[in-house]
Amino acid sequence: MAQQAARYGVLGNPIAHSRSPSIHADFAQQCGINMHYDRVLVPLDPPQAFAQQVHSLQAQGFGGVNVTVPFKQQAHAVATSHSAAAQWAQVANTLVFGPEGIYADNTDGAGLCADLTRLLAAQGLGLQQCHVLLLGAGGAAAGCIQALHQAGVGSLVVLNRTAERALALAARAQALGLAAQGGVLGQAPHEVLQGNADMNAATNAQPWVVVNATAASLAGHSLPVHPAWYAQAVLAYDMMYAAQPTPWLQALQAVHAQHALPTSDGLGMLVFQAAHAFALWTGHKPDALATLGRVRAAL
Ligand code: ATR
Repeated sequence: MAQQAARYGVLGNPIAHSRSPSIHADFAQQCGINMHYDRVLVPLDPPQAFAQQVHSLQAQGFGGVNVTVPFKQQAHAVATSHSAAAQWAQVANTLVFGPEGIYADNTDGAGLCADLTRLLAAQGLGLQQCHVLLLGAGGAAAGCIQALHQAGVGSLVVLNRTAERALALAARAQALGLAAQGGVLGQAPHEVLQGNADMNAATNAQPWVVVNATAASLAGHSLPVHPAWYAQAVLAYDMMYAAQPTPWLQALQAVHAQHALPTSDGLGMLVFQAAHAFALWTGHKPDALATLGRVRAAL
C-alpha cells in the first residue's frame, strides 16, 4: 500500500502567488519524501478565522504549516510553545503540530542571515565585519534581529516611518547586547548616531548592509533613505521579491549605477527560511541553494 503523503501548507492573505509550494515540492523530491503542500487563503474577518483554520488543519492531520502576511503575530499567539526566536520577536512563520500542542518557530531570521552570508561571501566579507541598517520596525524587522545578533553583526540601526517603533525595537536589540540605535526614515547618519561616536565612525569606515523590512515594496513604494547611509554600503537587500526588482532596488540601481552597489531581493531568504521549516517538520536538510537556482529560473 502506498504511504500516505505528509500534509503541510502555507497560510496567508493573499496567498495565490506564494512560491512556498514549489519550494517544498523541490525539497521533498530531493529528500525522497511524499509530501502534500497546500496554499490556504485565510479570510481577514472574523479575527478568529486564523486560529480556527490552524486547528482545523491540525485536526485534518497536517504536520504543520508556514505562515505569511498578515498572520505572523497570530501564528505566535495560537501556539502553545515557542522557540527563543519566535518568543523574542513575538511573531512566527512556522508551526509544528504535535500531540502536545502547537510549536511556533521563526525561521525568517535564520533565512535572512543565510542569504546575507552567501551574498557577502561573494565579496570576501562575513556578517561579523558588517553593520546593519534595518528599514522598518514591524514584525518582519523584529523577526530577524536575534539572528543578526547571533551572526555577530557589529551594530544595528533601525529606521522607521514611525519613530517610536524604531526606538522601541532598537532598545530591545540593545537589551540583547547588540549596539543599536533607532531613528526616522529620512534622517542622516549623524542625526541618528549623535552621541554614539563608535557607530557614527563606522558609517564612514566599515561595511554596511542595508535591509528593507518595511511593507513599502508590497505597496509599490520606494523609501526615503538619506544617501549618506549608502557611503559604505556593500549590499542593499529587500526582503520582498518579484520577477522585477522592487521599487526601492530600482531606485538604488539608478542612483548607484556608477559604483554598482550590489542589490538583492528576498527570494534567497524565502528559500532558506523554508529549508529550516522543512528540517523542523521532517528532520531532513535539503540543498537550499540548488532549490534557489530552480525557483529563480521559474520566477
Ligand atoms: P510586517 O509584519 O510585514 O513587518 P507590520 O508589523 O505591519 O508588518 O510592519 C510594517 C512595516 O512597514 C512598518 O515598519 C511600517 O512602518 P510604520 O511602523 O510607520 O507603520 C512599514 N511601512 C509600511 N508601509 C510603508 C511605506 N509606504 N513607507 C515606509 N514604511 C512603510
